[in-house]
Amino acid sequence: MQENDRLEPRQAFTFSDVLLAPQKSCISSRKQVSLVSRLSRNVTLQVPILSANMDTVTEAPMAIAMARAGGVGIIHRFLTIRQQAEEVVRVKRAESIIIEEPYSLSPDQTVQDAKRLMRRLNVSGFLVLRGRRLVGILTNRDLLFESDPGRRVAAVMTRRLITAPPGVSLKKAEELLKRHKIEKLPLVGVGDRLRGLITASDLLKNKIRYPLTTKDAKGRLLVGAAIGVVGDYLERAAALARAGADILAVDVAHGHAEHVFKAVRKVKKRWPHVEVIAGNVASYEAVLDLAGAGADAVRVGVGPGSICTTRIVSGSGYPQLSAVLACAKAAAETGVPIIADGGIRDSGDITKALAAGASSVMLGSLLAGTDESPGWTITRQGIKYKVYRGMASMSATLSRKQKEYADDPDEIDMAGVVPEGVEAVVPYRGPVAEVLAQLAGGVRSGMSYCGAPTIEELWKRARFIQITPASWQESRPHALD
Ligand code: XMP
Repeated sequence: MQENDRLEPRQAFTFSDVLLAPQKSCISSRKQVSLVSRLSRNVTLQVPILSANMDTVTEAPMAIAMARAGGVGIIHRFLTIRQQAEEVVRVKRAESIIIEEPYSLSPDQTVQDAKRLMRRLNVSGFLVLRGRRLVGILTNRDLLFESDPGRRVAAVMTRRLITAPPGVSLKKAEELLKRHKIEKLPLVGVGDRLRGLITASDLLKNKIRYPLTTKDAKGRLLVGAAIGVVGDYLERAAALARAGADILAVDVAHGHAEHVFKAVRKVKKRWPHVEVIAGNVASYEAVLDLAGAGADAVRVGVGPGSICTTRIVSGSGYPQLSAVLACAKAAAETGVPIIADGGIRDSGDITKALAAGASSVMLGSLLAGTDESPGWTITRQGIKYKVYRGMASMSATLSRKQKEYADDPDEIDMAGVVPEGVEAVVPYRGPVAEVLAQLAGGVRSGMSYCGAPTIEELWKRARFIQITPASWQESRPHALD
């Protein structure tokens, strides 16, 4: 090998080195642009955005909000196995619109009682209970032609009931409500004991409020969780799979390594129904290798993150736009989608990452300032912030060790720690749904400038132009006081 062969002849680029050239478009409204995209081999998202598995970004509240907005959250792994599994369970239970204590009447009450209560509580019907046992249902329809106020509820109520077991999925509940043209679906357990109620109007409201929701096959929110590749990672994977995690993210800083392929193979073999995301990597070969090991999606990004110091500390990394372009070639060949992870500062960067061939993006800093990220807001000189830190930062490492040595804090030894991340604050940004709406709107706009109504079309049409530092300056607000 000659000395020069070790220096790549090509330059590599990141997001602010380029712009997307505007193209002829037949899109007249951004509403015509679809962001639907594949997250992994078997999961599709309405909004191709993931929240990063970091302890200042994703626990259950973030994962719930992300799934409701059409994306998905990956719960970080710097919790005990039990705690992380509990976070997954919280997400899985979140979509429940079950009324646990529905209004009820006794069969011995009268029609007059029922009418009075209906007016007072402004409801259209009651379940009829003897003790906790469901014996009937009384609705407006039963009372329509009832003129005797003294008649007992037992005499006018409907006795033939359509019910479901307490664990019924929302999808199944909706099917039953539709098929039987009913408004109320009581959930009953052993001995006809009432366990809850699902109403058609609540289901409808839920659909209207969160039309883009990312759901699993049972109609629950979809969620991912991160695992490592050493120590108790299989035990962790087992607990997360049991808790209902739909995605396991095999998460290491340098994912192009034999031990990572092995971990991916093992996880995929034991839990074939769970989608496995593997990473992080930055080359064509790495995507081929991880896809070959069974990964359902591959995370791309070595060192681009806002809180990363990997490139400074180690001297290694790859400019993110070029990394995505290289990996996209392997994604196209294998059919395994890639996720552009790190370095995204605004919606324009998301459009560029998607245009370069990513199927989705993972965000840390852009989501760390939202209401749903873990931690409190802090106020400095009247401005609100939230803490955001790299998972390989000194402070995150110290927190991990403090948990590990909770009984023996004197044993904590930080001397050999070489951090590859920093701790910082990011501006407070309000609810994540609003942040995602802004980002999605920006991406739709970007796609319409490229004349691309879908992400697949964007991959075909996008043309990048390299820009100078002066062009970048021109692109930002300038010449202002
Ligand atoms: P952004 O730019 O969205 O990046 O804030 C989030 C991504 O950064 C990665 N990450 C790290 N990388 N040292 C690193 O080199 C760290 O301490 C660190 N913590 C997170 C990770 O891929 C995340 O999704």
